[in-house]
Amino acid sequence: MNNLKSPESEKTSGLPSLIIRDANIWTKNDTTRGSILIEHGRIQKIARNITERADEEILANGLLVLPGLVDAHVHLRDMNLSYKEDFTTGTAAAAAGGFTSVIDMPNSLPPTDSAERLRERARRASGKILVNVGFHAAAVKDQDAANEMKSAGAFSMKLYLPNPIAPLDIDDDRVVVQVLDAAKQASLLLTVHAEDATKLPRTGEIKTFAELVRLRRGNAETSAVRRILRLQRRIGCRVHFCHVSLPSSLSAISNLSSSRLSSEVTPHHTLLSENHVMTLGWKAWMVPPLRSPKDTRKLFHAMKMGIPTIMATDHAPHTVKEKARLPRKSSPGIPGLETALSLMLTMVNNGKLSLGRLVSLLSNNPAKVFDLRSKGRLESGADGDLVLVDLKKRGTIDPEKFFSKAHYSPFEGWKTQGAVHTTIVNGLVVYRDGEIVAKPGGGKVLKSGRHE
Ligand code: NCD
Ligand code: ZN
Ligand code: ZN
Ligand code: ZN
Repeated sequence: MNNLKSPESEKTSGLPSLIIRDANIWTKNDTTRGSILIEHGRIQKIARNITERADEEILANGLLVLPGLVDAHVHLRDMNLSYKEDFTTGTAAAAAGGFTSVIDMPNSLPPTDSAERLRERARRASGKILVNVGFHAAAVKDQDAANEMKSAGAFSMKLYLPNPIAPLDIDDDRVVVQVLDAAKQASLLLTVHAEDATKLPRTGEIKTFAELVRLRRGNAETSAVRRILRLQRRIGCRVHFCHVSLPSSLSAISNLSSSRLSSEVTPHHTLLSENHVMTLGWKAWMVPPLRSPKDTRKLFHAMKMGIPTIMATDHAPHTVKEKARLPRKSSPGIPGLETALSLMLTMVNNGKLSLGRLVSLLSNNPAKVFDLRSKGRLESGADGDLVLVDLKKRGTIDPEKFFSKAHYSPFEGWKTQGAVHTTIVNGLVVYRDGEIVAKPGGGKVLKSGRHE
């Protein structure tokens, strides 16, 4: 590592320039040896040799450079839930995990259920964030409210079927059609948590997490997916299915092969099964729950073959106190930002996943689905969001070391090969060698549909 600073040029340009030398750079679908020049927060040039000098230079010595990862599904909490996570700890976790942009879900407190609330949340976030952050808003059926959310920069309206964030009678198809229509008219993507509340079991007597997960086996997810697909066909708005956990749900979506539909899988649903719940209990409790080992294998295979559109972590931190309770009272959700990339790099090293597929799932495709046009690829003109990866480095997942406030993980103790070395956001080094090296505030608030 070699970092040279010359304050003179910093003065002239505002943002310091950066060169990464002698790296293996992921461009389109292969790696090439070369260097990257970043100026004014953007990639200026990628070339075999760069003769210019920059304010800061990183000698990568063959480290792999990927486009910064984009996580379209995180819960950053903060505001009245900052005891679970806040904008700084959540985005520190993102940077440590190689994510340079994340999109926050609206089930915050207060919820992001109006344009005004979205603007307020964005105001609170700016100045505290270490990576770029965009916001989803709650699904509404009112056309004006949807239009306003779009103008405020919402990346989607999120329809949380089990229990809508903004009150909606979602059992009524006519109401769901109104929501789809409002999204369509406002040119907003509709993101969906597809679980049919009427098909979810009663959990009153349950004593173990394994029982809870077994009880939820049924088809609450696939039937909700089918219902939304049926209604979407009538309206034609764009729909993105969050955290798809069953192969049957994924095929229902992908069989339609529509450009207006996209799907998301998580690291936990593709790597863990019900069996892990027996030993891990609350540490492996999230919704949708973990599935049978057979479903997990099928989901991973589908992911490897390119069926789901993106991978997202569904980073959903809670306190240990909120989780280590009776199963029916335990908060579902696990932190995921700091484990996703090294878990998937391990799969690449084991020959179970191609590097190209990893980059599509975690960077190219989420940038496309969420219309982040200058992100998700390494080329001149793109944003200076990059992650330097040490593909050979071995490690063990240790939740004690998380920047997230949630210091637990169902992956605790897993041996990994492949680690984040340096994360660069808007041309600034934010994370390096286990440490956050930037001050909060370097991340930008992202607004959908604003292209600089
Ligand atoms: C999420 C949360 O805690 O906000 N929990 C979870 O288990 N996934 C909610 C959600 O994404 O459905
Ligand atoms: Zn310049
Ligand atoms: Zn969800
Ligand atoms: Zn979620």
